[in-house]
Amino acid sequence: MNENIIIINCGSQFTQLIARRLREMKVHSVILNWDVSHETVSAYSPKGIIISGGPDSVNDSDAIMIDREILNPGCPVLGICYGMQLLAKLSGGNVTSGHVHEYGVTMIHRTGKSELLNDSIPESMNVLMSHGDNVSELPEGFIITSSTESNITSSIENAGKKFYGLQFHPEVVNTEHGNEIIHNFVFGICKCSGDWNLEDWVDGTIASIRKSVGDGRVVCGLSGGVDSSVSAALVNRAIGDKLQCVFVNHGLMRLNEPESVMNSYKDMGLNVIYVDASERFLRELKGITDPEKKRKIIGRLFIEVFEEEAKKIQNAEWLLQGTIYPDVIESGLKKGAAMIKSHHNVGGLPEHMNLKLLEPLRDLFKDEVRVIGKIIGMPESIINRQPFPGPGLAVRCLGEITKERLDVLREADAIFREELKRADLYSGIWQAFCVLLPVRSVGVMGDSRTYNEVVALRAIHSQDAMTAEWARIDYDVLDRISKRICNEVRGINRVVIDVTSKPPATIEWE
Ligand code: XMP
Repeated sequence: MNENIIIINCGSQFTQLIARRLREMKVHSVILNWDVSHETVSAYSPKGIIISGGPDSVNDSDAIMIDREILNPGCPVLGICYGMQLLAKLSGGNVTSGHVHEYGVTMIHRTGKSELLNDSIPESMNVLMSHGDNVSELPEGFIITSSTESNITSSIENAGKKFYGLQFHPEVVNTEHGNEIIHNFVFGICKCSGDWNLEDWVDGTIASIRKSVGDGRVVCGLSGGVDSSVSAALVNRAIGDKLQCVFVNHGLMRLNEPESVMNSYKDMGLNVIYVDASERFLRELKGITDPEKKRKIIGRLFIEVFEEEAKKIQNAEWLLQGTIYPDVIESGLKKGAAMIKSHHNVGGLPEHMNLKLLEPLRDLFKDEVRVIGKIIGMPESIINRQPFPGPGLAVRCLGEITKERLDVLREADAIFREELKRADLYSGIWQAFCVLLPVRSVGVMGDSRTYNEVVALRAIHSQDAMTAEWARIDYDVLDRISKRICNEVRGINRVVIDVTSKPPATIEWE
């Protein structure tokens, strides 16, 4: 069995980040929900336990409470934020609610000898705090190992029992030396060896897919994107032909993209049904100019077409989706928040289809998904594909969507990307694409007057698409792009560039 660190999830949005930090240190972890029994935890023979943060206050009558016996584990325990307050309270200390106003980045100072905050950690540093409660009375055997400027306890430990608590979040980048603190815990204190890696993740995941799917069949909607493709490749490795993929061509993809994506799928040995639904999409989008209406129509049609195909697949029991962790966080956290755009991804699960959901990448981040794609030998063209929205060119073809306007956009877009590649700029850019504007302007070509539409160039740098900075592209490269688009694409006589970051703009124009 792998060496395991057990992470007990008490509801923090950062729990997966703890797991990610451990993966980066080549340490295997398992996230278990707060209501897990101590027997289940012990069955993993953990090298250490981390209790995550969470939104509750330990003093609330309905606060999350872990099985007390988990604190007799025979291995070190680290409580983070709410986890530290639980640790303190269950060890006989006292926690005061609501008096701490140390939210955000705060300076802390080490106050004594500590195994966790040892001499590799500076005397003072900035950390991210995000809880209103405070350990006001230490449990027996514990010492304070750091506190804030205003004398709030920021870390505690009981070296004899190997219990450690941090009021702040070491897993986020805003905490200085957070990685070193986690490193001290897993290697210095838990004595992990750090010999686990993503190759092991691939093997383990393939084995567990095989086990849970058994003889059932899996259906999967492919979009050409990285996440759905990597998911399909993994499941294909696990169960071969029992995976049936469906690729819906909605007619809103880029130049030659459906063909090249299908070729890659064939090379990967995937079993794919190709459905050309482009005319159906175009028909239903006729005359529609409102961005949200476009998105809604495309989302609904996608599900309809996918469902029609999936119904034909006999004995389908599972639906495979390429959900990754940021999708999980976004859907979890955005409750009640303002809706900016209704995102539609392939294969939203209509409940009446009665399929069980398979989401092998649910705990991973995009860059890790790309690494996994590499490990299982997927083509670079898929692994390094830039993000492409589910509604495709519909949200880049402003105004009415017609076959003619889509073709114009496709040609311009292909030139833009080709020239960026030629200048060796494409792979350094998060997303680069053209937008067709429903605006006509006067031009002159040869001796004739033209009155044509405008293409906008959009290129951005980003880390997670939540924020973005517009890419500064060399003027000579821009000049070549503009000349080629005006000369080669009929119907375009003007090229402009979008120099807006996100916020205030979004990456796509609609
Ligand atoms: P925005 O335009 O909201 O886009 O700044 C953020 C990122 O999401 C992509 N995007 C989508 N992806 N379905 C998707 O799968 C969608 O409906 C969708 N809309 C936007 C966009 O390309 C960018 O990477």
